[in-house]
Amino acid sequence: MQLLDGLSVSKTIKLELKEQVEKRKSENKKIPHLAAVLVGNNGASQTYVNAKVKACNEVGFDSTLIHLTEDISEHDLLFEIEKLNLNPDIDGYIVQLPLPQHINEKKILLAIDPMKDVDGFHPENVGRMMLNMKTFLPATPMGIITLLERNNIETSGKHAVVLGRSHIVGLPMSILLQRNHPFGNCTVTLCHSKTKNIEEICKSADIIIAAVGIPEFLRGDMVKAGAVVVDVGITRVNDASKKSGFRLLGDVNFEEVSSKCSFITPVPGGVGPMTIVSLMQNTLASVEHKE
Ligand code: GUN
Repeated sequence: MQLLDGLSVSKTIKLELKEQVEKRKSENKKIPHLAAVLVGNNGASQTYVNAKVKACNEVGFDSTLIHLTEDISEHDLLFEIEKLNLNPDIDGYIVQLPLPQHINEKKILLAIDPMKDVDGFHPENVGRMMLNMKTFLPATPMGIITLLERNNIETSGKHAVVLGRSHIVGLPMSILLQRNHPFGNCTVTLCHSKTKNIEEICKSADIIIAAVGIPEFLRGDMVKAGAVVVDVGITRVNDASKKSGFRLLGDVNFEEVSSKCSFITPVPGGVGPMTIVSLMQNTLASVEHKE
């Protein structure tokens, strides 16, 4: 079994991005600027957004964090989004999800300028992805494709099973794996909570992407020998022995599955860091596109 070391690949990509920023500086070109909108005090969302801002600093991007209170009205949030759309210095921005219950998430995503939608969540960009047109790809599925690519994992003709149909990971992942692309061309099965015979389907998979948000959902007896397993889950589980009070658990029972598969992502240090660098890559692509 080999580890799909997202942390190490992400470090390489950050160095590549840093070099490109240096080159842009020497050519007097604009420094990429990413903004992140965070609403409320969800601990996991705060951690993710802080990690995105930190990564910007590491590669030399400009970054802006807009932290709004939990009780902000939908109207006021839309106003903040309009300001970002109109600000020529902002090349791309994200609105961290989930949003509080009283805010209509779809309405917010529709308000984002598709040209600045570096998360690739606007329906126009989702449509472009579906049709294999140039667009911003959602960061987590994009990061997983890059991780497979940088580890020279053959995908063409393979049976890929995606567990979970979320709009952020499972659904776009299934689209990217099936497209006509050097790291696509899979036959894809998308499984969800109503899927029957999920164990049998998983057992026939060459590649499994687990994105259900259920700790250790994928067990050893669900995986065929030699499969490639990507774990997107990061559920916080209470753990009094940790300083933070919790530990992170993936969707894969690592001990059982790692002894059977050919490649596996660790949690943490697998998909998470790849998501962040993909967002950076999209932000650079945004500023380059404007030029
Ligand atoms: N919440 C969980 N993952 C993501 C992501 O990739 N982007 C945004 N905006 N919110 C998220």
